Amino acid sequence: MAQNYEFRDDDVIAPEVYGRIGHPHDAFTWLRKNDPLRWVEPEHYRPFWAVTKHADIIEIEKNPEVFASEPRPILIPEQTQPEMREELIMEIFKRLEDRPKLLEVLATAGEQGLIRSLVQMDPPDHTNYRALVQPWFKPSNIKALEDRLNMITESIIDDMMGDGGERELDFVQDVAVWPPLKLIVELLGVPEEDEPLILKLTNELFAGEDPEMMRAGDDPLSGIETVKSLYDYFTELTEERRVNPREDLASYIANGKLNGAYLPYKELISYYIIVATAGHETTRTSISGGMHALLRNPEQLQLLKDNIDDEDTVKLAVEEMIRWTTAVNQFSRTATRDYELRGQKIKKGESLGLFYASANFDEDVFDDPFKFDITRKPNRHLAFGTGPHQCLGLILARMQMRIFFTQLIPRIKEMTLVIVITGAASGFGKLVSEKLTALGACLVAGDINKSALDEVVEPLASRGARITAMKVDVTARSEMMALVKHAVDTFGRVDVMINNAGVMPLAFFSDHHAAHDAWDRCIDINFKGVLNGIAAAHDVMIQQGRGHIVNVSSIYGNYPVVGGGVYGATKAAVTFLSESLRQESLGKIKVTTVKPTGVPATALGTGVVNPEAVAGILGANATAYMGKFAAAAGGALSPEELDSNNVQYWALEPAYLADQIVYAINQPWGVSIAEITVRATGDAYVI
Ligand code: HEM
Repeated sequence: MAQNYEFRDDDVIAPEVYGRIGHPHDAFTWLRKNDPLRWVEPEHYRPFWAVTKHADIIEIEKNPEVFASEPRPILIPEQTQPEMREELIMEIFKRLEDRPKLLEVLATAGEQGLIRSLVQMDPPDHTNYRALVQPWFKPSNIKALEDRLNMITESIIDDMMGDGGERELDFVQDVAVWPPLKLIVELLGVPEEDEPLILKLTNELFAGEDPEMMRAGDDPLSGIETVKSLYDYFTELTEERRVNPREDLASYIANGKLNGAYLPYKELISYYIIVATAGHETTRTSISGGMHALLRNPEQLQLLKDNIDDEDTVKLAVEEMIRWTTAVNQFSRTATRDYELRGQKIKKGESLGLFYASANFDEDVFDDPFKFDITRKPNRHLAFGTGPHQCLGLILARMQMRIFFTQLIPRIKEMTLVIVITGAASGFGKLVSEKLTALGACLVAGDINKSALDEVVEPLASRGARITAMKVDVTARSEMMALVKHAVDTFGRVDVMINNAGVMPLAFFSDHHAAHDAWDRCIDINFKGVLNGIAAAHDVMIQQGRGHIVNVSSIYGNYPVVGGGVYGATKAAVTFLSESLRQESLGKIKVTTVKPTGVPATALGTGVVNPEAVAGILGANATAYMGKFAAAAGGALSPEELDSNNVQYWALEPAYLADQIVYAINQPWGVSIAEITVRATGDAYVI
């Protein structure tokens, strides 16, 4: 729970809060601790008791005689002023003028409105209506559906993969939406060409105030138009199934009889509506929330990948995704008589909001509830509710998610590594960060220049990259320790540590007066910074049983040159550190030393103290280099010299080196690329 959190009644229910932060876990955690059964009076809602404890929701749901679903099965914003209410009802009647049968339904509806489905009913109606479709859930129907879903899911995932090339997808709208939609279409036995219509209508019905989903964003009564369309569609389906009954759920509903008669019109159409809608948004949300949680917890994704052939593991994982996501925010009950619960007097007629997401993170029931743990067992979540109204489709939802993830996970090729990188705000660090996050890695990006770092990290994060930024001075051991700790706290572990930060204060020894401070910093950053990075990640990696440390050295660490004494010495030291580390940690940590050559396009040159020292480090190639450099600046290089596909290519673009670092990181754990030196083929200047 965030420190200094102050509870507000609106926090538990306001759509604006859910839209902004998802489940209001701060509010729920506060309530569970301080006031688990609290009378709240949020704006636009009739007051209710906010029920946040797992045990209380069970007690209420299992006692339908005392806690009835009618007349308020769900908490929705209401028009409380009587004259406005009156006006609204008149407007609804007006909109239904072209549907006389619906007008008739509304005229006799009283408080109930146009839909009366299972969720609105209490015993004995609820029991009788629910029993009507039970025979459909026989094992042979479930098995046939499972076979169909396996085939359908494969084609959904094939479509998602496309031709295997790179492209962007919206996982919710382009992928997760399909399995539940196809399930509904299979269950109801409606033709495939009606899929877009069913999708549109179910989205609209659940839209609430979500402008992305509502039929007409600024029309508060747009829901009426949706209900009209649903009535039209299912009236026609009923007529058809009464003439030609099949083995689908639609036929069970159309032909179901109570006391020898077909169901009343409103209850009949509402039955279709609940089946078509209840399983759609919920399963889509659970699939998306599950995928999101796996991506945020790469070690759990890896665990699932490693055990994907074990059905029990997948079942547990699905259960945890369902708990974690808790797709249904609340249902509500109304007390039919006075009742005492948790020492509070609930009066007859008062409503209770059942907050499933709070129950599913109740510390009294779940160990470490805010940890996403795909091995959690037992997992007594209430995402499907409990008691007589417990989700009718839970077998189907679980089956569908199991099939979906069993098929999807082995086809995920993305990088699941957790990587820490220093010097991420510019140069190689920036490029490597961009490339690694594009591949799916979880990145903890550090740099001493926080505002420059934010400029790199924020656009990546807004595109969905799993990246977090932290200001870090690599010369401070405690800050490097904190950087690694941040990675462990955020992503659960550290697979790769890239010690990239470095400076290049080239100067001759005779420049010592001008250069000494820069040299001190160079020694601190290039050498001690790398050592601090190794020390910070070492124990974590040893404990994990594996890790990879990538240290950026330089080609100038190979040989002493004039003008680069201190710089070269720090880079030679990095090579020494890396080699010793490799030998000491054989079989536990792999080590890669990166030795960039001449890559003029990085900002490293800005640290040079004496520009003449640049010529010094080029030695015999100085004249050739200066000539090329001047030609490049004046646009006088030949096309061949600028073409990386040509052997005359004169100087490396930094991206090529970044690619090689990514390549080294992307090797199987047993394969270690110990050193990387990449040159442009026509590079005439670096020894
Ligand atoms: C992960 C996906 C799903 C979740 C999280 C979910 C959740 C729920 C919840 C919380 C309830 C209310 C339970 C209560 O009042 O105690 C419910 C009821 C219901 N669900 Fe689901 N559901 C899911 C999928 C489905 C599917 C796939 C279908 C149908 C194909 C379905 C059909 C229903 C129906 C008909 C009800 C009303 C039951 C009644 O009132 O008796 N649900 N669901």
